[in-house]
Amino acid sequence: MCGIVGYIGDKQAAPILLQGLAKLEYRGYDSAGITVREGEKPAEVVKTIGKLHNLIEKTDEGRALVGTCGIGHTRWATHGAPSKTNAHPHVSGNCTNSGSGAVESEVVGVHNGIIENYQELKAKMERHGYKFYSETDTEVLIKLVDYYFKKYKMGPIDALAKTIVRVRGSYALVVMFADYPDRIFVARKDSPMIIGVNDGESFIASDVPAILSHTRNVYYIGNLEMAEISAGNVDFYNLDGDRIEKEETHIEWDAKAAEKGGYEHFMMKEIHEQPQVVLDTLHKYIKEEGAAKTIDLSEVGLTDEDITKFSNVYIVACGSAWHVGMEAQYVLEELGDFQVRVELASEFRYRKNRLPADSLVIIISQSGETADSLAALRMAKDKGITTLAIVNVVGSSIAREADYCMYTLGGPEISVATTKAYSCQLVCMFMLALKFAVVRGCMEDYGNYLDELLSIPEKMNKVLEDKERIQWFASKYSNARDIFFIGRGIDYAICLEGSLKMKEISYIHSEAYAAGEMKHGTISLIEDGTLVIGTLTQSDLYEKTLSNMMECKSRGAYLMGITSYGKYDVEDSVNFPVYVPKVDEHFIGSLAIIPLQLLGYYLSVSRGLDVDKPRNLAKSVTVE
Ligand code: F6R
Repeated sequence: MCGIVGYIGDKQAAPILLQGLAKLEYRGYDSAGITVREGEKPAEVVKTIGKLHNLIEKTDEGRALVGTCGIGHTRWATHGAPSKTNAHPHVSGNCTNSGSGAVESEVVGVHNGIIENYQELKAKMERHGYKFYSETDTEVLIKLVDYYFKKYKMGPIDALAKTIVRVRGSYALVVMFADYPDRIFVARKDSPMIIGVNDGESFIASDVPAILSHTRNVYYIGNLEMAEISAGNVDFYNLDGDRIEKEETHIEWDAKAAEKGGYEHFMMKEIHEQPQVVLDTLHKYIKEEGAAKTIDLSEVGLTDEDITKFSNVYIVACGSAWHVGMEAQYVLEELGDFQVRVELASEFRYRKNRLPADSLVIIISQSGETADSLAALRMAKDKGITTLAIVNVVGSSIAREADYCMYTLGGPEISVATTKAYSCQLVCMFMLALKFAVVRGCMEDYGNYLDELLSIPEKMNKVLEDKERIQWFASKYSNARDIFFIGRGIDYAICLEGSLKMKEISYIHSEAYAAGEMKHGTISLIEDGTLVIGTLTQSDLYEKTLSNMMECKSRGAYLMGITSYGKYDVEDSVNFPVYVPKVDEHFIGSLAIIPLQLLGYYLSVSRGLDVDKPRNLAKSVTVE
């Protein structure tokens, strides 16, 4: 939610900031703004409503702003509607012009996160004579920094320290002070921020893709820490104002991975990257010695001895990552003989449940910054429960704070709707299920299961070869009003993800239902021509789900059915059959999800929507 960039060096800042913002636009696209300064001159602020291209046009691709130091922001509105006035940067002065133009204020800055006690702080600042032009919590934060800076006269780091002990909430805060023309200052709590330093230049960003083309050497700033950034240098401070040392991290991601690479949309590119990134993720943990293959979690740090201690598993996540958990529970229960519960992080964090001491809490997250998932992780840790994170973004908060971390090798995922990260998470969960089953002595056919897992990437390629059929089908349904996805067990979990892909990017109402539940109410919504998509990949449940589909058909539904080649012949029963290659049924979700991703994509395109940036959404949900 919200993307932040900063630059200080020897080049013109504005074009670099705009390029960085373009890489972060998936984090928010309600409005955007930039501020640049040249030496002692006042900072210039430009803001625009809507997507980033408006700001790019208004600043003549950055050429209209002169200066080698600046910050930028792309907004996902929380406090205050999307408007030019509420757009960042915000300024500390009592201006009436929405904080735009040449700024005489002491402090100008941007923020990502939520200040929970902003109203109380706003009242305090008003008592001290500050006037507000926006409805944002950010303006309060910037004015509070100004207040402490002027009151204590001890410098920016001290003013920031005083500010952050006074605010409640989450923030990645980036500010410039008029009195410190060659510096940018930052403070952070629970919202992502990285700092990259390279030969005479420094970069600040909410996420890696924004700075990848400049440097891959980054520092992660911790909670309640601050930094003073100059050209090519960064110093970190704790709340007491003492200097702290940080280690630099080298990011392996390739800058090209964050480009569209000839595809019309990131989502389509990322769908096509799935075979490769799933293969990379499998190879990271499956080791081959001669003909023997094993799952090696030594990089994760989880030993066989650790695994034998767990008797319950809680899988906690949000959105698609939660769907991964929903699917993995069947596999973990069946192969590993575990008690598994899957919880939405936003619910789990507030439950007053007693977690058994021998539990393992698995947090799944692409970004590693989702606020609810992070809070759930901390709650489990506070209760003394072991935590394992499955995360894509290296060095993210969840990755750093969990006891163990299993990284997915998805690379940067830019499209708001997840595809490749989901697929990598799923195979990580499959590997964990197999590993846990072996260690607990409940697995006989280990080698065969591993071969099946390793066959997934090639079979994904086969599914992708059939994409034109899905495109054709999507063109027929672009005016659909409601779509229902039904299945049982693993098929139900696949439906949950298929339905989310559909609704989030095509804006067509869709619901995923456990097939057996349709008769308990939802079937009343089926009418002539309603599209019902059934997933039929599980032998023991196939006939049951098919019967439920036929019940819908006899009430007018048009049926699409997904199953595997040569297993069942659904041609006579469903109107539009889709076949995927055969693989062990525990793992079939990795293949069956692809036609559903494609269907959501093509429907969105045929309706002329912005596939990569669906309305109201942002990639990384760092607020509750
Ligand atoms: C949907 C989607 C979201 C995320 C959810 C969790 O396509 O991407 O539902 O899965 O917001 O995000 P992470 O995995 O970053 O914790």
